[in-house]
Amino acid sequence: MAIVAPSLLAADFLRLEDACKMVNESEAEWLHLDVMDGRFVPNISFGIPVIEHVRKATTKICDVHLMIEEPGNLVPAFKKAGADNIIVHLETCPNLHRNIQQIKELGMNAAVAINPHTPVFFLEDILADLHHVLIMTVNPGFGGQKFIPYSLEKVRQLRNLIDERKLDVLIEVDGGVTVENAKSLVDAGADVLVAGNTVFSSDDPSGTIKKLKSFSRG
Ligand code: DX5
Ligand code: ZN
Repeated sequence: MAIVAPSLLAADFLRLEDACKMVNESEAEWLHLDVMDGRFVPNISFGIPVIEHVRKATTKICDVHLMIEEPGNLVPAFKKAGADNIIVHLETCPNLHRNIQQIKELGMNAAVAINPHTPVFFLEDILADLHHVLIMTVNPGFGGQKFIPYSLEKVRQLRNLIDERKLDVLIEVDGGVTVENAKSLVDAGADVLVAGNTVFSSDDPSGTIKKLKSFSRG
Protein backbone atom coordinates (compact mmCIF):
# COMPACT_ATOMS: atom_id res chain seq x y z
CA MET A 1 0.00 0.00 0.00
CA ALA A 2 1.30 3.42 -0.94
CA ILE A 3 1.51 6.33 1.49
CA VAL A 4 -0.58 9.19 0.10
CA ALA A 5 0.36 12.84 0.69
CA PRO A 6 -2.29 15.22 -0.67
CA SER A 7 -0.71 18.57 -1.59
CA LEU A 8 -2.56 21.49 -0.04
CA LEU A 9 -1.34 23.76 -2.86
CA ALA A 10 -4.25 22.48 -4.96
CA ALA A 11 -6.88 23.13 -2.28
CA ASP A 12 -9.26 26.13 -2.15
CA PHE A 13 -7.25 28.63 -0.07
CA LEU A 14 -10.47 30.21 1.21
CA ARG A 15 -11.43 26.85 2.68
CA LEU A 16 -8.21 25.37 4.05
CA GLU A 17 -9.97 24.10 7.17
CA ASP A 18 -12.42 22.08 5.05
CA ALA A 19 -9.50 20.71 3.02
CA CYS A 20 -7.73 19.64 6.24
CA LYS A 21 -10.93 18.03 7.50
CA MET A 22 -11.33 16.04 4.28
CA VAL A 23 -7.73 14.82 4.55
CA ASN A 24 -8.15 14.04 8.29
CA GLU A 25 -11.11 11.80 7.51
CA SER A 26 -9.34 10.14 4.56
CA GLU A 27 -6.81 7.31 4.35
CA ALA A 28 -3.94 9.72 3.61
CA GLU A 29 -1.09 9.49 6.11
CA TRP A 30 0.76 12.69 5.24
CA LEU A 31 -0.23 16.25 4.30
CA HIS A 32 2.20 17.80 1.79
CA LEU A 33 2.88 21.53 2.22
CA ASP A 34 4.66 23.37 -0.60
CA VAL A 35 6.64 26.47 0.39
CA MET A 36 7.94 28.63 -2.49
CA ASP A 37 10.05 31.79 -2.34
CA GLY A 38 9.85 33.29 -5.83
CA ARG A 39 13.63 32.87 -6.17
CA PHE A 40 14.50 29.19 -6.28
CA VAL A 41 11.21 28.63 -8.10
CA PRO A 42 9.27 31.18 -10.18
CA ASN A 43 6.27 31.27 -7.86
CA ILE A 44 5.30 32.15 -4.27
CA SER A 45 2.89 29.96 -2.29
CA PHE A 46 2.49 30.15 1.49
CA GLY A 47 4.80 30.12 4.48
CA ILE A 48 5.18 29.83 8.22
CA PRO A 49 1.97 31.56 9.48
CA VAL A 50 -0.24 29.46 7.21
CA ILE A 51 1.49 26.25 8.28
CA GLU A 52 1.02 27.23 11.93
CA HIS A 53 -2.74 27.37 11.33
CA VAL A 54 -2.86 24.23 9.20
CA ARG A 55 -1.04 22.40 12.02
CA LYS A 56 -4.00 23.12 14.30
CA ALA A 57 -6.44 21.72 11.76
CA THR A 58 -4.63 18.58 10.66
CA THR A 59 -4.06 15.27 12.41
CA LYS A 60 -1.69 14.07 9.67
CA ILE A 61 2.09 14.11 9.34
CA CYS A 62 3.08 17.55 8.00
CA ASP A 63 5.51 17.00 5.12
CA VAL A 64 6.98 20.43 4.41
CA HIS A 65 8.60 20.82 0.98
CA LEU A 66 10.92 23.85 1.03
CA MET A 67 11.41 25.26 -2.46
CA ILE A 68 13.41 28.15 -1.02
CA GLU A 69 16.99 29.37 -1.10
CA GLU A 70 19.09 29.09 2.07
CA PRO A 71 16.51 26.91 3.85
CA GLY A 72 18.74 26.49 6.92
CA ASN A 73 17.90 30.00 8.12
CA LEU A 74 14.22 29.12 8.45
CA VAL A 75 14.26 25.44 9.47
CA PRO A 76 13.84 26.23 13.23
CA ALA A 77 10.80 28.41 12.43
CA PHE A 78 9.20 25.60 10.41
CA LYS A 79 9.80 23.24 13.35
CA LYS A 80 8.03 25.74 15.61
CA ALA A 81 5.17 25.99 13.13
CA GLY A 82 4.64 22.23 13.46
CA ALA A 83 6.53 20.50 10.65
CA ASP A 84 7.17 16.76 11.09
CA ASN A 85 9.18 16.23 7.90
CA ILE A 86 11.38 18.84 6.23
CA ILE A 87 12.40 18.42 2.61
CA VAL A 88 15.22 20.62 1.30
CA HIS A 89 16.35 20.74 -2.31
CA LEU A 90 19.81 19.44 -3.13
CA GLU A 91 20.08 22.32 -5.62
CA THR A 92 19.75 24.96 -2.85
CA CYS A 93 22.15 23.39 -0.33
CA PRO A 94 25.90 23.63 -0.95
CA ASN A 95 26.35 22.30 2.61
CA LEU A 96 23.65 19.66 2.43
CA HIS A 97 25.09 17.44 5.17
CA ARG A 98 24.88 20.35 7.61
CA ASN A 99 21.26 21.06 6.64
CA ILE A 100 20.29 17.43 7.20
CA GLN A 101 21.97 17.31 10.62
CA GLN A 102 20.18 20.53 11.62
CA ILE A 103 16.76 19.09 10.69
CA LYS A 104 17.47 15.87 12.62
CA GLU A 105 18.83 17.67 15.67
CA LEU A 106 15.55 19.59 15.84
CA GLY A 107 13.73 16.25 16.03
CA MET A 108 12.23 16.17 12.52
CA ASN A 109 12.51 13.69 9.68
CA ALA A 110 15.01 14.90 7.08
CA ALA A 111 14.48 14.54 3.35
CA VAL A 112 16.14 15.77 0.17
CA ALA A 113 14.39 16.66 -3.08
CA ILE A 114 16.00 16.50 -6.50
CA ASN A 115 14.84 18.37 -9.58
CA PRO A 116 14.24 16.57 -12.89
CA HIS A 117 17.74 17.46 -14.18
CA THR A 118 19.60 16.27 -11.05
CA PRO A 119 20.92 12.71 -11.28
CA VAL A 120 20.10 10.18 -8.58
CA PHE A 121 23.78 9.35 -8.01
CA PHE A 122 24.29 12.83 -6.45
CA LEU A 123 22.48 11.36 -3.42
CA GLU A 124 24.82 8.41 -2.93
CA ASP A 125 26.84 9.82 -0.02
CA ILE A 126 23.95 11.43 1.88
CA LEU A 127 21.39 8.65 1.36
CA ALA A 128 21.96 6.77 4.63
CA ASP A 129 21.24 9.94 6.64
CA LEU A 130 17.81 10.49 5.12
CA HIS A 131 14.28 9.56 6.11
CA HIS A 132 13.11 10.00 2.53
CA VAL A 133 14.05 11.28 -0.90
CA LEU A 134 11.63 13.32 -2.97
CA ILE A 135 12.01 12.84 -6.72
CA MET A 136 10.46 15.81 -8.53
CA THR A 137 8.51 14.45 -11.46
CA VAL A 138 7.79 17.96 -12.81
CA ASN A 139 9.81 21.18 -12.55
CA PRO A 140 9.01 22.62 -9.13
CA GLY A 141 6.94 25.80 -8.77
CA PHE A 142 3.43 24.97 -9.92
CA GLY A 143 0.72 22.40 -9.40
CA GLY A 144 -1.16 20.80 -12.25
CA GLN A 145 1.82 20.14 -14.57
CA LYS A 146 2.41 17.10 -16.73
CA PHE A 147 4.44 14.19 -15.37
CA ILE A 148 7.93 13.93 -16.95
CA PRO A 149 8.17 10.30 -18.16
CA TYR A 150 11.93 9.72 -17.61
CA SER A 151 11.33 10.27 -13.88
CA LEU A 152 10.19 6.66 -13.73
CA GLU A 153 13.74 5.52 -14.54
CA LYS A 154 15.08 7.75 -11.75
CA VAL A 155 12.71 6.09 -9.27
CA ARG A 156 14.01 2.67 -10.40
CA GLN A 157 17.64 3.76 -10.03
CA LEU A 158 17.02 5.08 -6.52
CA ARG A 159 15.09 1.97 -5.53
CA ASN A 160 18.09 -0.18 -6.60
CA LEU A 161 20.51 2.00 -4.66
CA ILE A 162 18.40 1.81 -1.49
CA ASP A 163 17.81 -1.94 -1.80
CA GLU A 164 21.46 -2.77 -2.60
CA ARG A 165 22.52 -1.02 0.58
CA LYS A 166 19.59 -2.41 2.59
CA LEU A 167 18.64 1.11 3.70
CA ASP A 168 15.35 2.16 5.20
CA VAL A 169 14.76 5.29 3.11
CA LEU A 170 11.39 6.08 1.56
CA ILE A 171 10.98 7.31 -2.01
CA GLU A 172 8.43 10.08 -2.52
CA VAL A 173 7.33 11.32 -5.94
CA ASP A 174 5.88 14.78 -6.54
CA GLY A 175 4.29 16.36 -9.58
CA GLY A 176 1.75 15.17 -12.10
CA VAL A 177 0.87 12.03 -10.16
CA THR A 178 -2.47 10.62 -11.34
CA VAL A 179 -4.61 7.56 -10.75
CA GLU A 180 -3.39 6.41 -14.18
CA ASN A 181 0.38 6.63 -13.57
CA ALA A 182 0.45 5.84 -9.83
CA LYS A 183 0.71 2.07 -10.29
CA SER A 184 3.79 2.38 -12.55
CA LEU A 185 5.42 4.70 -10.00
CA VAL A 186 4.79 2.26 -7.16
CA ASP A 187 6.06 -0.62 -9.31
CA ALA A 188 9.22 1.39 -10.05
CA GLY A 189 9.79 1.73 -6.30
CA ALA A 190 7.89 4.77 -5.02
CA ASP A 191 6.57 4.55 -1.43
CA VAL A 192 4.90 7.96 -1.08
CA LEU A 193 2.64 9.58 -3.68
CA VAL A 194 2.16 13.36 -3.51
CA ALA A 195 -1.01 14.38 -5.31
CA GLY A 196 -2.39 17.89 -5.62
CA ASN A 197 -4.82 18.32 -8.47
CA THR A 198 -5.56 14.63 -8.77
CA VAL A 199 -7.03 14.75 -5.26
CA PHE A 200 -8.44 18.26 -4.91
CA SER A 201 -9.90 18.59 -8.43
CA SER A 202 -11.59 15.24 -8.16
CA ASP A 203 -15.35 14.91 -7.59
CA ASP A 204 -14.59 12.52 -4.77
CA PRO A 205 -11.28 13.57 -3.12
CA SER A 206 -11.28 10.96 -0.35
CA GLY A 207 -12.27 8.23 -2.81
CA THR A 208 -9.34 9.30 -5.01
CA ILE A 209 -7.00 9.13 -2.00
CA LYS A 210 -8.30 5.61 -1.31
CA LYS A 211 -7.64 4.61 -4.92
CA LEU A 212 -4.08 5.99 -4.83
CA LYS A 213 -3.46 4.24 -1.54
CA SER A 214 -4.57 0.87 -2.92
CA PHE A 215 -1.60 0.58 -5.32
CA SER A 216 1.09 -1.79 -4.18
CA ARG A 217 4.23 -3.14 -5.79
CA GLY A 218 4.09 -6.19 -8.04
C1 DX5 B 1 5.17 21.51 -7.31
C2 DX5 B 1 4.87 21.03 -5.93
C3 DX5 B 1 3.91 19.92 -5.88
C4 DX5 B 1 2.55 20.23 -6.40
C5 DX5 B 1 2.02 18.98 -7.03
O1 DX5 B 1 6.24 22.37 -7.30
O2 DX5 B 1 6.07 20.58 -5.30
O3 DX5 B 1 3.82 19.34 -4.57
O4 DX5 B 1 1.65 20.66 -5.40
O5 DX5 B 1 0.82 19.26 -7.67
P1 DX5 B 1 0.17 18.26 -8.72
O6 DX5 B 1 -0.03 16.95 -8.02
O7 DX5 B 1 -1.09 18.95 -9.08
O8 DX5 B 1 1.12 18.14 -9.88
ZN1 ZN C 1 5.82 19.48 -3.36
